[in-house]
Amino acid sequence: MIDYKNPKFILDSSQLEPGKVRWRSPSNIALVKYWGKYGQQLPRNPSISLTLTQAATDTTIHFSLKKSDREIDLDFYFEGQHRPDFSLRIEKFLQSLLPLYPFLKQLHLRMESSNSFPHSAGIASSASSMSALALALCSLEQRFFGTLAYEGEFMRKASYLARLGSGSASRSIYPYVSVWGEHADIPAASNEYAIPFAEDVDKIFHTYHDDILIISKAEKSVSSGAGHNLMEGNPYADSRYLQAGQRLARLTAAMRSGDLTTFGQITEAEALTLHALMMTSQPSYLLMEPNSLAAIRQVQAFREATGHPLYFTLDAGPNLHLLYPDSIATEVKNFIRTELTPLCQDGIYIADRCGKGPEELEGSVK
Ligand code: DP6
Repeated sequence: MIDYKNPKFILDSSQLEPGKVRWRSPSNIALVKYWGKYGQQLPRNPSISLTLTQAATDTTIHFSLKKSDREIDLDFYFEGQHRPDFSLRIEKFLQSLLPLYPFLKQLHLRMESSNSFPHSAGIASSASSMSALALALCSLEQRFFGTLAYEGEFMRKASYLARLGSGSASRSIYPYVSVWGEHADIPAASNEYAIPFAEDVDKIFHTYHDDILIISKAEKSVSSGAGHNLMEGNPYADSRYLQAGQRLARLTAAMRSGDLTTFGQITEAEALTLHALMMTSQPSYLLMEPNSLAAIRQVQAFREATGHPLYFTLDAGPNLHLLYPDSIATEVKNFIRTELTPLCQDGIYIADRCGKGPEELEGSVK
């Protein structure tokens, strides 16, 4: 187990100049899903994801010496609005990090966060926001103490901190493809942080598309957190965790060889398994909508008619993610516009791509 506790991370307050750190971090879409956790945000099974581009969060932390007596002195602004309601979750998170980062008690933090995708699309993601925050915290550590100069160590710690904020956020740290959770075939994989996996797959996946059909913008009736907890009483839990490991082995082999059919078949099976687990939880629940099913049928029919490797996945909601290689983009986009946007709320879909991962934004001081 990594122990990042460090009582020495205390600032000399006479030396502190106010400044800021800024990061943009994307969301990611899981292919083998993380569903079920234990302990302090540890996954019951390994997962693998594609890192996205368009669905991203920009986070700036302005820091200065604390003047109030609040333990965590945070002002949080989301899309320009002061949001004490959102602030609470972040304050709690920062509080939980005090053994690792006791200097957080010495600072006034003004955090500004905004999403690069329309708020109205209803796909706000904890993966992008928690990974952006984790990266900004690592920039603070590097700036104050110079302890994260090596990029590999910086990213690993960011992934670790992101995981503590939201499990799936651990995977947003790396370009193109990430793996989180121990697996017999992947010795470097860990339950505590994600690892980069882009070099272990065919390059075709680096240019993959993920078009997100917004079937419904409504907020989920059951949060991911509650869904993870329900896995504890799920009668299929043990066999599910075993299956996830087996599927990850088959999926990574298919991704290594560029076998798009096996890749797609496993990805779709995972999406439907995730929703089957929700339906078999007690109490059971359904997050798919009639139009999610209608869109799935259309994708299957398109595949049969054209032979093109267009496959879907779902996260814990009704919206379909359509995954496909760049070579068929023109045909797929025509198909989406004519057949699928009528199934989307207000006809909205978001054209996303696999991407390079987080970037430090201008204005950040090292
Ligand atoms: C279905 O990462 O949102 O998207 O750790 O409680 O914040 P917490 O859960 P979260 O769960 C994501 C679940 C998923 C599958 C996945 O991304 O692997």
